[in-house]
Order: sequence, then C-alpha cells, then structure tokens
Amino acid sequence: MITEQHRIGSGFGAHSTADDVLTGIDLTGRTALVTGGYSGLGLETTRALARAGARVVVPARRPDTARAALSGVTGTEVWELELADPEGVRAFADRFLDTGRALDILIANAGVMACPETRVGPGWEAHFGINHLGHFALVNRLGPALVPGGARVVSVASSGHFLSDIRWDDLHFRAGYDRWLAYAQSKTANALFARHLDTLGADRGVHAFALHPGSILTPLQRHIPHDEQLAQGWITPDGKPAEGFKTPAQGAATAVWAATSPLLDGHGGAYCQDCDIAEPATTDDMLIGGVKPWAVDPKAAARLWEVSSELTCLDSFS
Ligand SMILES: NC(=O)c1ccc[n+]([C@@H]2O[C@H](COP(=O)([O-])OP(=O)(O)OC[C@H]3O[C@@H](n4cnc5c(N)ncnc54)[C@H](OP(=O)(O)O)[C@@H]3O)[C@@H](O)[C@H]2O)c1
Repeated sequence: MITEQHRIGSGFGAHSTADDVLTGIDLTGRTALVTGGYSGLGLETTRALARAGARVVVPARRPDTARAALSGVTGTEVWELELADPEGVRAFADRFLDTGRALDILIANAGVMACPETRVGPGWEAHFGINHLGHFALVNRLGPALVPGGARVVSVASSGHFLSDIRWDDLHFRAGYDRWLAYAQSKTANALFARHLDTLGADRGVHAFALHPGSILTPLQRHIPHDEQLAQGWITPDGKPAEGFKTPAQGAATAVWAATSPLLDGHGGAYCQDCDIAEPATTDDMLIGGVKPWAVDPKAAARLWEVSSELTCLDSFS
C-alpha cells in the first residue's frame, strides 16, 4: 500500500516541541538510537526521548563532545561511530548486535550540509556517502535488532530535497560539484530510503518515516558564511533566527512524533512535516515545504535501494 501524502490532523503543528508530542507517552523499557544525538536537533531529540523514559544510544563521531553535551541527561549512552567509514559502521553494528539488545526506535538524524567537495569511503561524494549511504548501511546492519511488529526507523530529510532529484547518471558529482545540489540529492535519498524501507519492512512490522524538521539555526550551517546566511534570509542583521524559523526543541518535534505517534499506524513510508504528514508541495518555497513528487516516488525508492545495496554490498531487508 502506498501512503497518501495528506495531513491527518495530528493536533500538533509547527510550534509544537518534542516534549509536547510526547505528552502522555511512556517510553520506559524502550531503546532508541539517535545518530548525531548530541548536537542541534539530535540533542533535543535525545533529551526528549530520555525524559519520556527511553534508553537512548547516541552514536557519535566525537564521543568526548557527545558525552559533555549529554552530561546530566540520564538514560543516555555514547558509542563511537563515523558514518563516512563503512568499516566503522560495520564494527559499530556488530558491537551492538553482540549485546543482544533490541531497538524500538532508530532516528537517522546525523548529517552534513553544503560542505566543500569531499570524498568518503571508496570515493563517494560526502553528502551522499554520510547522509544517505552511511545510514543505509547502519540500518541494514542493525536490521536484526529492530523489534518485529513495532520498530520505527525515522529518516531526517529536509525540504532541501526541493533542489534535486537523484542524479542517476552522476551520483557522486564526477562531472562537477555543487554543494547545494549535493545536499539536496542526499535529502531526496533520505526520503526515498524511508519509503522503500517501509515497503520491505512491512512484513515484519518494521515501519519507516521521513521528515522535514523545519528551518532551525544549529551547527549544521557551519559551512555557510554569515553574509550568505544573511542574504538567504536565515538570520537577521543581529544574528537572530529569521521569522518562520523554529527553535531546536520545535525542530526535534516531528522526528519524535514520527517515532512514537500511534496516529501514524497504517501510514508507513510517509514524509512528514510540522508533526503531521506533509502535503504535496505546491510552491518552491522551502520554508513552506511540503514534499516534491521525486522524494516519494515508489519506483525511484526501489531503484535507489538497489543502487545503495550495490554500493554498500548490503541488503538485509529484501
Ligand atoms: N537545522 C535545520 O534547519 C535543518 C533543516 C532541514 C533538515 N535538517 C536535518 O536535520 C539533521 C540534524 O541537523 P542539525 O541541524 O541538528 O545539525 P547539527 O547540529 O550539525 O547535527 C548534525 C549531527 O550529525 C553528526 N555528523 C555529521 N557528520 C557525521 C559523520 N560523518 N558521522 C557521524 N555523525 C556525523 C554531527 O556530528 P559532529 O557534531 O561531531 O560534527 C552532529 O552531531 C540533519 O540530517 C539535517 O540535514 C536540519
């Protein structure tokens, strides 16, 4: 069944926070994993899930920084993980599987944006390699730990996907690099990944969702000079977030909602925004958002899965 992209009236919206959407939800006894769960939106996601009672595993490429950010947040544990390193992903997953622990929630949140041209792993373009293939490999390797009949995988995409479909003929920008198209392609890939994972996981009751968190000032913008952020209209001249931007706690809300809301039962594969299923995009305004057709196309999702599986030599769901 293909999920329709239409709002379902969750009762939450753009101003809801991660704590708001968890009101009345008890995650005691549940285990969640949040990649990059020690910075920006991931940190707020981790805090909210832990406050609701979950045990939260936080894979971090800078474990000391992660431990410092999470000090005082009970119920969290930091494990080293570099998503750009396929061997590191394998070692992380093996170590986790060896514990015999189960995962109820996996939030693929970590990401980079608009970096200078960088190659990772066997020469992959870095956005595609980290944001998409790193998470593709992680989820496939952790597949056996996902709780049958209940686990949810949440892929943090972006309305940045508006700028690019998957570049089937040049996934790794061999013919010329553009940092925004590289980010955009990786975010389209995040959305398609959730769609096909949901299709493949449905038989064992593992569901997946993708989302745009909103626009939020976080360390994600580290590669964007102040003047460019000003010109883009992201910040005011005094460096404050522009109108329409969310706080990190609001930015974490849709991921937490997608990971936990019973209202999403039966809507697996949906692309969400503002704590609801997103409508099809009717403009190119990323602040308004919505979802473009190429980010939820089931045939493209199946094709991307196949390509990703070939690149990583992994497929534990088909
Ligand atoms: N902020 C926004 O307006 C916005 C809008 C749309 C979508 N998003 C998406 O939201 C997600 C979270 O972004 P954020 O705004 O919270 O940014 P952030 O504060 O920069 O957090 C990103 C996290 O990803 C981690 N990470 C980056 N590269 C990694 C790698 N190779 N291996 C392992 N971890 C890695 C970072 O680790 P280090 O801190 O150690 O570098 C950091 O913890 C991203 O997927 C982003 O695309 C954000």
